[in-house]
Amino acid sequence: MTTQTETARQFFFIEKAKEHVDELAKKLGRRPVCNVTTFGCQMNARDSEKLAGILEQVGYELIESEDADLVIYNTCTVRDNANQRVYGRLGFLNSMKQKKPHMKIALCGCMMQEDTVIEKIKKSYRFVDLIFGTHNIFKFAELLCTMFESEDMVIDIWKDTDQIVEDLPVERKYSFKSGINIMFGCNNFCSYCIVPYVRGRERSRSPRDIIKEIESLAADGVVEIMLLGQNVNSYGKTLEEPMSFADLLREVEKIEGIERIRFMTSHPKDLSEDLIQVMKESKKICRHLHLPLQSGSTRILDAMNRHYTKEQYLAIAERIRKEIPDMSITTDIIVGFPGETLEDVEETIDVVKRVQYDNAFTFIYSKRTGTPAASMDNQVSQEVVKEGFDKLLKVVQDTAKERTRLLEGQIQTALVEEVNEQNDAFVTGRLSNNTIVHFPGDASLIGKIVKVELKECHGFYYAGEMLQEA
Ligand code: SAH
Ligand code: SF4
Ligand code: F3S
Repeated sequence: MTTQTETARQFFFIEKAKEHVDELAKKLGRRPVCNVTTFGCQMNARDSEKLAGILEQVGYELIESEDADLVIYNTCTVRDNANQRVYGRLGFLNSMKQKKPHMKIALCGCMMQEDTVIEKIKKSYRFVDLIFGTHNIFKFAELLCTMFESEDMVIDIWKDTDQIVEDLPVERKYSFKSGINIMFGCNNFCSYCIVPYVRGRERSRSPRDIIKEIESLAADGVVEIMLLGQNVNSYGKTLEEPMSFADLLREVEKIEGIERIRFMTSHPKDLSEDLIQVMKESKKICRHLHLPLQSGSTRILDAMNRHYTKEQYLAIAERIRKEIPDMSITTDIIVGFPGETLEDVEETIDVVKRVQYDNAFTFIYSKRTGTPAASMDNQVSQEVVKEGFDKLLKVVQDTAKERTRLLEGQIQTALVEEVNEQNDAFVTGRLSNNTIVHFPGDASLIGKIVKVELKECHGFYYAGEMLQEA
């Protein structure tokens, strides 16, 4: 089936779902409300916007509270604590549903691609109404209809897909910025990681579809975009007419109205010299590169199946620092991978000190069923993990603070994102290099790019003052 006919099919189900929601509205005497809660990464958040787009079209009002007529949890399974959060909150949803029997509960996202999870929900969470996975999210309207027409739990999980269904409705969380999927899935199989198993094989969207989507976002007032993929540096390799990520960026740069371009995530093994040159020459690509290290020990990197050594990583980081000195570099690090010793953690700390990360997300290794690392017999004890983790975290935080402080006194442009949560006389903006700055202002500035003076460094963020609209 072509993706156009699939899109048309889904629009048919949107009309049908509307009738179900209308009927519910009559019964309730008000417009039904729904909630979509995201547990995962930016790609997961983008999927939630697709769900929200359909929910809005079929007649629901989207609300922040989970005290709703329909609640959807878009789950993540990258680490076990993400799973535990979902189970915990399901208990709370159940107590709500007992008071409101018409309430519907749906689960989707990465966790649902795991057989063990489905078994557990079937057994212990019978009150869930609809379960679907990552590969068939495009048929959400159809699944909603099935849910309304069925008494039992509806489960529809696909093992994999090669389809990319375009042009379905999307409801963005922010009016001025948006994520855009440029590729789906992952082929890297890092030995600790479950993503390739729950997101399927890597497939790139056509440059034409990507550009068209960004053009329509720009026409709709979006000024900042983030190109999303598990490994954007391998974008386009499997297209009929292959195209590199660097060349895609050159095309995106030309789109009028887009002022800022971000992307996530870059795998160090595929970062090309051409990409460094595009970033260097670009007026729009933000001065921020997220370059996950995972470990600074070549031995551990090898066991992780990362395909680079400590020295190779350092060489890339050095190239970037030399070519684009104002580029901030951030990273992800895992502590406690099977077989990791405190000496290995020292290697990681050494990389942190040398690269001088502007920020780093540090994670404790979480054993994911079905991954190669889960069956390695040299799992690390909790005490050793904790010792290494605490030591690393301290260095990461000190380095990040030092880097942030370097901007003190500078004048930079910031995109205003929101009114400050603690004090509504202030707004919060983001610099090109991803640093946050708070300064006096009001809601009328949201979505605008303004010039700010970075007056006072408060650890990881700044207090500033607006000079003018840029
Ligand atoms: N595709 C991205 C990362 C996606 S997952 C990349 O390759 O960089 C985001 C982060 O979660 C990873 O960078 C890694 O640091 C962390 N992570 C993934 N699996 C993990 C696991 N089993 N335990 C702990 N952290 C993990
Ligand atoms: Fe996971 Fe590695 Fe793929 Fe990133 S590149 S999603 S860490 S397997
Ligand atoms: Fe989590 Fe899936 Fe993203 S496992 S990190 S939501 S791709």
